[in-house]
Amino acid sequence: MSILAGRVALVTGGSKGIGAAIVRALADAGASVVSTSRSGGRDADRVRQVKADVRNADDAARAVEEAVTSFGGLDILVNNAGVGAFATVADMSIDEWRQVIDTNLSGVFYCCHAAIPHLRRRGGGWIINISSLASRNPFAGGAAYCASKAALNQFSEALMQEVRHDDIRVSYVMPGSVATDFGRGSTAKSGWALTAEDVAQVVMDLLAMPARSLPSRVELRPSKPPKK
Ligand SMILES: NC(=O)c1ccc[n+]([C@@H]2O[C@H](COP(=O)([O-])OP(=O)(O)OC[C@H]3O[C@@H](n4cnc5c(N)ncnc54)[C@H](OP(=O)(O)O)[C@@H]3O)[C@@H](O)[C@H]2O)c1
Repeated sequence: MSILAGRVALVTGGSKGIGAAIVRALADAGASVVSTSRSGGRDADRVRQVKADVRNADDAARAVEEAVTSFGGLDILVNNAGVGAFATVADMSIDEWRQVIDTNLSGVFYCCHAAIPHLRRRGGGWIINISSLASRNPFAGGAAYCASKAALNQFSEALMQEVRHDDIRVSYVMPGSVATDFGRGSTAKSGWALTAEDVAQVVMDLLAMPARSLPSRVELRPSKPPKK
């Protein structure tokens, strides 16, 4: 079903994992999609892969311009690119700290900053930020990651209030464990974890909401994790 025909989306971190599932779902629904990552990838039907590092504001702006020049505008921004580095505060290197905060928080700002004028030009759109349940459930060794995602939640809520009257809807999705290559790897999670497609389905469900409604925060949990 081409419910997004004529729409243009930018997905950061679309080369694998959750981002790749979101890119596929958007393209299957008829959208034209620009997908970014540091490694890039091969273009496919309605999907352009762009090498762009969200930690670099110029790269973020270039990715947005790529969507606008390739496909004529921008309607949907999915800030999905994210990294985890897990160590105690005493043991974490300065570089690891910067990588997490610069990717998971500053990168979202750079992409939103570049995208909002284009969303306004289209008369509205969506910004969907992929956060994490770790934003609400901090754990030892997760200071950088948990802080980056908690800050992303607050960023999203403030932004939502700034742009809602421009018909730009802002949501953030907080998944629990998803079976991808992220962080500590997928092996331990296999069998009970969410899949990347589960998260993509939430994104598609959000996009299908009637214009008057805005589920601004979504928590998505594995229904049956191992008992503690
Ligand atoms: N997996 C989980 O259990 C889980 C749970 C909750 C939330 N999340 C969140 O979901 C999002 C996606 O995670 P995932 O599990 O799909 O991870 P993943 O499989 O490791 O994929 C991460 C994606 O982000 C890209 N990326 C990383 N740093 C980037 C940068 N600086 N600029 C542009 N792209 C970058 C990666 O490509 P390159 O390496 O080529 O750049 C890749 O495409 C993240 O925000 C993560 O925090 C994941």
